[in-house]
Amino acid sequence: MTGFPSTTNRAVLAAATAAFLGAVNAQDTIGFGPYFSLGPTNSWIREANTTLVLPAVPNPQEERLALWPGMGTSGGDLIQALAVSFKDPAANCGASEGQWCTWASTLQGTQLGGTQVPASAGDKLTMSYVYNDSTGKYDQSVAINGKVVSTLSTSSGEAQGWGTAVECQEDACTGVVAAHEYTDTTILLNAADSSFGNTLAINEATSSGLTTSDNGKTWTVDTISIKSHTFNL
Ligand SMILES: *[C@@H]1O[C@H](CO)[C@@H](O)[C@H](O)[C@H]1NC(C)=O
Ligand SMILES: *[C@@H]1O[C@H](CO)[C@@H](O)[C@H](O)[C@H]1NC(C)=O
Repeated sequence: MTGFPSTTNRAVLAAATAAFLGAVNAQDTIGFGPYFSLGPTNSWIREANTTLVLPAVPNPQEERLALWPGMGTSGGDLIQALAVSFKDPAANCGASEGQWCTWASTLQGTQLGGTQVPASAGDKLTMSYVYNDSTGKYDQSVAINGKVVSTLSTSSGEAQGWGTAVECQEDACTGVVAAHEYTDTTILLNAADSSFGNTLAINEATSSGLTTSDNGKTWTVDTISIKSHTFNL
């Protein structure tokens, strides 16, 4: 699990040893870059919403570079809506060269996923995770510029942390990932946890500040700015 030394990231990224596209072989190169990571909470996360403003894809596009906000869960799942740059975007989601593929996804041993759709630099991907009391599942959705394009519901237990990731696999582990932003991030806990803010771990990123207006039940960050990162693995 390269690049995630902080124990506070464990809950979020417990499942990230073989994160996204779980089919990768154990010997394949996997690396992680910048992150903004919260958790574990002593409560659990009911809802987490954020909007990823897509940067340009890496140039050239190699296999594979992923941006994702994820939640590690008590069930050992990683709920992780994805934006992935593939070497062959057309073969994966029908995207053109220079585009991303995005979809709702949960790593649950295997990689479960909703419909994969193309997305472009500048698009606003709103990634929403909401615990559904009537089913006990997390209902996940990805919207592009406000229109829902991909959904997935998974029985995953309770989410313990939330964090952003820049993940490379194989040939994408050499090269530059452009700076990008997550806006309007809101995390709603089941019960107030005033110490949640103290679990923040941040690497090659800045934020406009993590705040709570209700003594620790709802946490918001207006802007998370992820710096450009060069992989050289
Ligand atoms: C998250 O987004 C969903 C879907 O739009 C919405 O129903 C929910 O109220 C939002 N939750 C928070 C905490 O903002
Ligand atoms: C919970 O899930 C059910 C079944 O998918 C769905 O019909 C319902 O709208 C969901 N509840 C909420 C509050 O989204």
